[in-house]
Amino acid sequence: MPLPDSFLQELKSRCDITDVVSSYVTLKRRGRNYIGLCPFHNEKTPSFNIYPENGSFYCFGCNVGGDVITFIRRIENLDYMEAVRLLAQRAGLTVPENAVDDSMANLRRRVLEVNRETARFYHTVLLSPQGKAGLDYFTRRGLSPSTIRHFGLGFAPEGRFELVNHLKKKGFSKEEMVQANVAFLSRNGYPVDRFTARAMFPIIDLRGNVVAFGGRILTNEKPKYINTSDTPVYHKSSGLFAMNFAKNENSDTLILAEGYMDVIALHQAGFRTAIASLGTALTAEQARIIARYAKEAIICYDSDEAGQKAASRAIPILRQAGLNVRVMTVPGNKDPDEFMRTYGKDGPARFKALIESSGNDVDYRLTKIRARCNLNTPDGRVQYVTQAAELLAGMDNPIEREVYASRLAEEIGIDKSAVLAQASKAARRSAKRVREQQFREQTREMSGANDPVNKEKQKHLRAANAEETILAYLFCHPDGADFCRERLKPEDFVTNFNRRVYHAVLSKMLYSASVSLADFSGELTQDEISAVARILARYSEIPPTREDAAACIRVIRAASGRPDSESARSADPQELSKYIESLRNQKK
Ligand code: UTP
Ligand code: MN
Repeated sequence: MPLPDSFLQELKSRCDITDVVSSYVTLKRRGRNYIGLCPFHNEKTPSFNIYPENGSFYCFGCNVGGDVITFIRRIENLDYMEAVRLLAQRAGLTVPENAVDDSMANLRRRVLEVNRETARFYHTVLLSPQGKAGLDYFTRRGLSPSTIRHFGLGFAPEGRFELVNHLKKKGFSKEEMVQANVAFLSRNGYPVDRFTARAMFPIIDLRGNVVAFGGRILTNEKPKYINTSDTPVYHKSSGLFAMNFAKNENSDTLILAEGYMDVIALHQAGFRTAIASLGTALTAEQARIIARYAKEAIICYDSDEAGQKAASRAIPILRQAGLNVRVMTVPGNKDPDEFMRTYGKDGPARFKALIESSGNDVDYRLTKIRARCNLNTPDGRVQYVTQAAELLAGMDNPIEREVYASRLAEEIGIDKSAVLAQASKAARRSAKRVREQQFREQTREMSGANDPVNKEKQKHLRAANAEETILAYLFCHPDGADFCRERLKPEDFVTNFNRRVYHAVLSKMLYSASVSLADFSGELTQDEISAVARILARYSEIPPTREDAAACIRVIRAASGRPDSESARSADPQELSKYIESLRNQKK
């Protein structure tokens, strides 16, 4: 059952999108709107826009947009009802519980129960004769029985139906197993174990729920790991392994490692603030979660080339989340797990010394740049300063920029002002690049190419753009609803998606003086909400006028083969005969 409109109206009037967003993003005013660095992707130049007038946000960098509820869903990783509850709590409102559709919440609860039972099963198997291969494997890799218990490690037995049969006995349906992604359906429709003969690492969220698994093969076969894909309770882009333990340390610093085994080895050695992103490069979402619990992240990736590349990519993402960043290098091409095993009981003390001697991210990157340039030649020095200036250009903190400019100037023997001038130049260049990129994106969008939501747009470009203008007009001018209603029926729309939105907007306007995107977040998917937000964003600078709307109505009616009476009268004879022809064709 949907939420009552009166409640949603109250909620959105109390949860101003600018207020809500500004508790996550630093916003700057720009005309009627606000702009900031997008929390959903990594960027240096702001392309994340807030449009208070229609209660929407849109990022031109990553094409994510929506209303206040969608924003909370994305940033807090919640489903629709959870986001509504969170906003209601913030606004001091009570959600009318009897009106709530709980089917999604029920599914999530069942999926969590499947996961808990699965973790229990794998752990029990590990400690039984059936799990000997797994236990031997963990032992060989230096894990103690108490570490194995602490992390709830397990073993997925050989065989195709071991887990599935166990879960069946516990009363779980095959749909629930498949939704949890611990089983898949065979061609004949029966469930099959997804993990077989693998060492299992349960992933536990901040509330202590088992939300996913990583499973490592015991041999050198590929793929080395299989991980749970996204499920109703898990999004790998926001998952952090061992964060459930690390957060309890209440430390200002977290250690960011690369793999499951690294994290476990570090915890066993007493570094209980170690965490890892899972099966993905670090995302902005993960960085934000880290920033909620710590002030500083120490990147401790493998010292091989892949690991160092990943470190360079992670630095700006962590920084943008407001974290101080340090980078430590484990000597001898080792990962932290190998390091601990190599040094045995000396491992922890040596590792601690490495942490203490690790430099900050700027030093780390300057060292990398310096290593590529030959400072003995003038060309090499120019190259060094040019690339270092790009690094300075990305710094928000002017004091930090000054400090490093002084150091560079001294190192190379040039004027500090020259370094700073070079940095400003680099900053302007990068801002220009971003603007050009956004312009290209918008042009591509207008052409409807690969529109992920309105698939018919490219085929009916003129009509679809006119339809979008009408939608934007209605959001900007609620008093224009009757004007549109009288002249343009939903059936006149050429593309299905825009028709559906038009219909929804007009229905809402029958009993509400204005609409905002939040009115629709219950009935449109997140992608669809993004699509509408994109339309509103495109027209926010120059809102369509009534004349624009009238012109667009003519375009749409003509495209759907129903020109309005006015344009039929004014059309020239040739067009008129074409029109009559089209009517005839329609009748056939
Ligand atoms: P690594 O290859 O460094 O694995 O990948 P590892 O954790 O050190 O494992 P060992 O020491 O070889 O046993 C780092 C992380 O990347 C993800 C896993 O999260 C892994 O822990 N990964 C790696 C995958 O998801 N799939 C793969 O096939 C490989
Ligand atoms: Mn490893």
